[in-house]
Amino acid sequence: MARKIHIFDTTLRDGEQSPGFSMSLGQKLKVGHALAEMKVDILEAGFPAASPGDFDAVRAIATEIEGPIITALCRTIPRDIEFADRALEPATRSRIHTFIATSPIHRRDKLNMSCDEVLRHAVNAVNMATEICDDVEFSAEDGIRTEREFLAEILQAAIEAGAGTVNIPDTVGYATPSEVYDLFRWLIKTVPGIENVRVSTHCHDDLGLAVANSLAAVEGGATQIECALNGIGERAGNCALEEVVMALRTRADRFDCETGIDTRRFAAGSHLLAAVTGNFVPRNKAIVGENAFAHEAGIHQHGMLASSETYEIMKPEDVGVQHSQLILGKHSGRHAVVDRARVMGYQLEEDQLDDIMIRFKDLADRKKRVFDSDLEAIITGSQTHTNGPWSLNWLSVVSRVNGESEPMASLTLAHQDGTTSTHTGEGDGPVDAIVHALEQVTGTRIKVLSLAMRSISLGEDAQGEASLRATVDGVEYSGHGLSTDIVASCAEALLEIVNRAIRYSTEIKQSNAA
Ligand code: KIV
Ligand code: ZN
Repeated sequence: MARKIHIFDTTLRDGEQSPGFSMSLGQKLKVGHALAEMKVDILEAGFPAASPGDFDAVRAIATEIEGPIITALCRTIPRDIEFADRALEPATRSRIHTFIATSPIHRRDKLNMSCDEVLRHAVNAVNMATEICDDVEFSAEDGIRTEREFLAEILQAAIEAGAGTVNIPDTVGYATPSEVYDLFRWLIKTVPGIENVRVSTHCHDDLGLAVANSLAAVEGGATQIECALNGIGERAGNCALEEVVMALRTRADRFDCETGIDTRRFAAGSHLLAAVTGNFVPRNKAIVGENAFAHEAGIHQHGMLASSETYEIMKPEDVGVQHSQLILGKHSGRHAVVDRARVMGYQLEEDQLDDIMIRFKDLADRKKRVFDSDLEAIITGSQTHTNGPWSLNWLSVVSRVNGESEPMASLTLAHQDGTTSTHTGEGDGPVDAIVHALEQVTGTRIKVLSLAMRSISLGEDAQGEASLRATVDGVEYSGHGLSTDIVASCAEALLEIVNRAIRYSTEIKQSNAA
């Protein structure tokens, strides 16, 4: 029988803690639901002792998300373990994940501890965690660069103290596949009691080897893979969930392993995460990139027409990518939209549908043909979009190339309270001018950190999508905009950021007043 590999997702912890990928509580919940629908076995929701925001997010996920075991990270410090325990309290099934660095470099330069001290911290933490939670994971941070004998000793001690999972991370993405394979084989042969616990791998991608190393760990005997959607994570990222799962599945002949993941959710989950964090997935990214199932070269197209097996090792529909291009038009109704969305891997809830139908009809009026990618962008936009208080009524932008006039943006915004407001801004370019016009709305300082734009689907009337990150008075937000006019999509993304900032400061004022 195929060996079951447990998928431990750390998108919302290792992924979220990396620069440019931070998420608000609401955004974490949306991504958390998508991961639960994907059927990840364990969902790492955050690091509760790191900040009150992290604590609240873990608690909200533990309250709301059903299905996976919810876990939270903590150092081997009693205060951290207490925070993790309190944050996880509402979860139906929870796990405390405690870690300490074990490698000589970390012991000497970061912890200033001897091997004995590190070992004592690990054992005390696992002891404490097992008293309050019946599922405990111990991670030997930088395990890959740790002396084998000490690594084996500390894993044995953690197992004897009650850890049900031991994780050996390649924290700095230094290992090669054959090294990882050897190490896991050796640990599994050497550490007493290891056969009774789950053995986990957690690989970073600094040398682009995270997926290969995770697969090597599985071949060496690992039964849990820690990974993140779109491969997000510290520095170059973590092992990409969708890649490692599809490798295990596509090459089941070699690995003889299975996961419980619903792979048809990959495309939708990946797009949601990209929109929420304001980071597009590269076109050539394996499994979920736009080109992953595209065939441009004539010789490839010829082969594909004869048989898709000539150039495709996976079926696009197995990862939620649809081949059908033409779909709906302005006469299509709710049923057609819901049906098409379902085929594309989206279960639309009644309360989302009104908003999606308004956006769909509006687009269908402006655009002759609505493609799958258009519908997907509408759905993702509506999942990430939050309401008001301002919406864009009118926009006029002047650009300049070698001319006299200054780039300028005039816009009229409508407020939820029924008023409208018109503002004009100048700037170095049209986007800068929109920023200056919007700054007048909030009376704040907006600083754009990153901006990415792309076209969705084909043709002259193709939609444009903008994804951006910006700070408003030093607080970082992400925004997403969609329009048949690419500059307007930027304005929409910026307006979303402004709206988030306004709502955030209103919430702060209300909680201070309470
Ligand atoms: O990379 C790492 O070592 C980690 C641990 C905390 C699991 O993220
Ligand atoms: Zn990590």
